[in-house]
Amino acid sequence: MTGLFKVSSVEETWELAAKLAQELKPGDVICLEGDLGAGKTTFTQGLCAALKLPGRVTSPTFCIVQEHLGVDRSLVHMDLYRLDNWQDVISVGWEDFLDRGDIIVVEWPERAPELIPQDARHIIFRHMVGEEERTVEFK
Ligand SMILES: Nc1ncnc2c1ncn2[C@@H]1O[C@H](COP(=O)(O)OP(=O)(O)OP(=O)(O)O)[C@@H](O)[C@H]1O
Ligand SMILES: [Mg+2]
Repeated sequence: MTGLFKVSSVEETWELAAKLAQELKPGDVICLEGDLGAGKTTFTQGLCAALKLPGRVTSPTFCIVQEHLGVDRSLVHMDLYRLDNWQDVISVGWEDFLDRGDIIVVEWPERAPELIPQDARHIIFRHMVGEEERTVEFK
């Protein structure tokens, strides 16, 4: 999936996430880029819903990783915003997630560029202040 999409509601963001969910494979790493409140966590909620994975998708304050474990596939949601040191991602099990073939979704990947594989997908969220419309760009 590539291109720029307009989303004017949470529902439309979820619909877009459901489309991406259809083409995800085990081991895919998806980087969600964009400012605070741009819609990254909302998109992740849509992905987990489409993949029928359990657990609430939230913006974790103290933990940087949440695992949504399903029967035949799992999604690991990371929010690196508060990361001080990229090595911390190793200590929460980054390499295990990769080895396990989980789908890994990373908010604020720019906090740990050392970790992001070359073939990761990049999705950019934009929300202009005072405007209803948001855009989601699949690179
Ligand atoms: N397409 C949309 N239309 C309307 N509201 C939206 C849309 N996407 C997200 N929102 C709302 O914007 C708020 C912030 O969204 P969200 O938490 O997904 O942002 P985020 O990019 O994860 O931010 P952060 O960097 O702080 O984690 C939420 O209240 C959400 O409901
Ligand atoms: Mg978020």
